[in-house]
Amino acid sequence: MKGIVLAGGSGTRLHPLTRAVSKQLLPVYDKPMIYYPLSVLMLGGIRDILIVSNPEHLSLFQALLGDGSKLGLSLEYAEQQEANGIAEALIIGADHIDGDAVALVLGDNIFHGPGFSRLLHQHTQNIDGCVLFGYAVRDPERYGVGEVDTDGKLLSIEEKPAHPRSDLAITGLYLYDNDAVDIAKNLRPSARGELEITDVNRVYLERGDARLVNLGRGFAWLDTGTHDSLLQAGQYVQVLEQRQGVRIACLEEIAFRMGFIDADACYALGAQLNKTGYGQYLMDVAARGTR
Ligand code: DAU
Repeated sequence: MKGIVLAGGSGTRLHPLTRAVSKQLLPVYDKPMIYYPLSVLMLGGIRDILIVSNPEHLSLFQALLGDGSKLGLSLEYAEQQEANGIAEALIIGADHIDGDAVALVLGDNIFHGPGFSRLLHQHTQNIDGCVLFGYAVRDPERYGVGEVDTDGKLLSIEEKPAHPRSDLAITGLYLYDNDAVDIAKNLRPSARGELEITDVNRVYLERGDARLVNLGRGFAWLDTGTHDSLLQAGQYVQVLEQRQGVRIACLEEIAFRMGFIDADACYALGAQLNKTGYGQYLMDVAARGTR
């Protein structure tokens, strides 16, 4: 399975913070925002990843993450000229996907919760159709919304409905079989002029090939779309990291635990940052060798 992180858009809702900086590079406590969605793909065992961003920002992601080899990944980069919609990432990434299945994650989505690695591993194997992840929220009208029957079967999906049929937001992590590329290529722009990911999902739903996994109330799916929610996401990470002494979305640690790099490589990455708690943590993780 291939991975795509979509990290473009103009970030206008966070101006002036994002006037000169990409939203997905803003700090969420101790690491750049993109670390969080990237960690999701890595936890799903995905190592071949395309990062899509707008032309002004792409080189910043390259400077941060390089070719990914230090993390045992293969990272490639592609431009999205304009914010033409999330589904365009599947068209831009068509060569990268190259006949394979794909996990698309939005570069501003933060997921954290028990059993998430297992869940990802389970759903990234032999995917047939699409798998969406739902999360109950107080304000579903701000998201794609899924309506499910009493057995949890997905009945309908709507993008930002004025009158949501449920409180289940469709999160920004989408697992697709290879048909998604052709589905995206055949989409027409919506009334707001975007190739909507909800329209891709609806095609799968109409074929009877869409599944919705409810992440449940013990899970955290955090928003970074406003100044307040961005700060709250950072505070969430800070509280958990300080309480537990483990780091959330620490890419080097995940690479080590997933077996993408060995303990020596993990230690060396920590040593490069040894003036920081982050670097010390990595050296400690590597020295303990707890895989
Ligand atoms: O976060 C989950 C939600 O993401 C879903 O529930 C919605 O169904 C989906 O449409 C999307 O809603 P948003 O309102 O959050 O979409 P937004 O336009 O803000 O884009 C989400 C991220 O993707 C944002 O960081 C910018 C980036 N993006 C967006 C578009 C439209 C791109 O990189 N390129 C684009 O063309």
